[in-house]
Amino acid sequence: MPGTGPGVLPGTAPAGRRTRRPRPSLVTRLEQLGKTLRPTPHVPLAMEHMNLFAKLEYVNPVGSIKDRPAYWILKRAAERREICDETTVIESSSGNFASALAAFTRLIGLRFIPVIDPNISSTYESFLRRTCSTVVKVEDRDDTGGFLKTRLQMVKYLCDTTPNAYWTNQYGNPDAVEAHYELTAGEICADFASLDHVFIGVSTGGTIAGLSRRLKERYPKVRIIAVDTQGSVIFGDTPRKRHIPGVGSSIVPPLLSHARIDDVVLIPEREAVAACRELLLTHGLFAGGSSGTVFAAVKRYATKLGRGGPKRPTVLFVCADRGTPYLDTVFDPTWTAQLE
Ligand SMILES: Cc1ncc(COP(=O)(O)O)c(C=O)c1O
Repeated sequence: MPGTGPGVLPGTAPAGRRTRRPRPSLVTRLEQLGKTLRPTPHVPLAMEHMNLFAKLEYVNPVGSIKDRPAYWILKRAAERREICDETTVIESSSGNFASALAAFTRLIGLRFIPVIDPNISSTYESFLRRTCSTVVKVEDRDDTGGFLKTRLQMVKYLCDTTPNAYWTNQYGNPDAVEAHYELTAGEICADFASLDHVFIGVSTGGTIAGLSRRLKERYPKVRIIAVDTQGSVIFGDTPRKRHIPGVGSSIVPPLLSHARIDDVVLIPEREAVAACRELLLTHGLFAGGSSGTVFAAVKRYATKLGRGGPKRPTVLFVCADRGTPYLDTVFDPTWTAQLE
């Protein structure tokens, strides 16, 4: 058949004279990526004194709540022409944000350098080393006993020395707040006719800022409960060595100023671990360390909420990621024995 050689389908141009389709623009590629981010489910949990629901953010494509700001920050930056095909994205992350950026930058054809620390789970580290050509791991603790300040110094150095560097800045980028306002909170508003209490873990503050602003517009009486780990400085606790990544911080994150918070609960890491096990063994949810931290806060509130009268309040908490990366830490009794 004329014009048909190996690898050439009938009806297509002969090899060598094929016209290459122009690559879609960065904005178009990001629009395509956005289509993979579908609403995450919420599930009911049997609990005394309340109608409790967990929003399962680990159902996101790369596996955590951080898929939303990673996508939204890249999309906004592309729309404003702050990033282009030659950009190298740089970010400090304890795991989830870097994993989302690693997958998404690969998909849209940008380079990405994650800056991580020894608290990262081995699963996330393996994932990043398989998806990024360069991974930078800091080893020195900062003056609060954490690694965040050291990581941020490294980000600054890399941005200063890498051509076309772009720092997504998950700690201070208002686009992260907008991501949760538009996407995560938009879904909750579509799913719930009323809400009384929402419990949210805090690290960069992006989730609680976006959710609290939108949810208070929709449900004016809703109470937003921020949940942090003891030893994190976000809400003024004395800094102490922490071991569970994803929740807590060595700095007060700038995004927190956008949040509307009614109460704060600080949870010791041992209690978070016990709550993680309870989520799995009693409720069948295999969720990560921050989800256990937040569930522990819900449990502390349970009796308080029970005294509120005959009406059972509707309560929602956020499960930010899945338990798999925590199998050799939070779910390992030998590891948890070292916790205070
Ligand atoms: C597992 C997990 N939970 C909770 C959070 C807190 O979210 P935010 O940084 O928006 O405060 C993070 C952030 O990295 C996380 O990775």
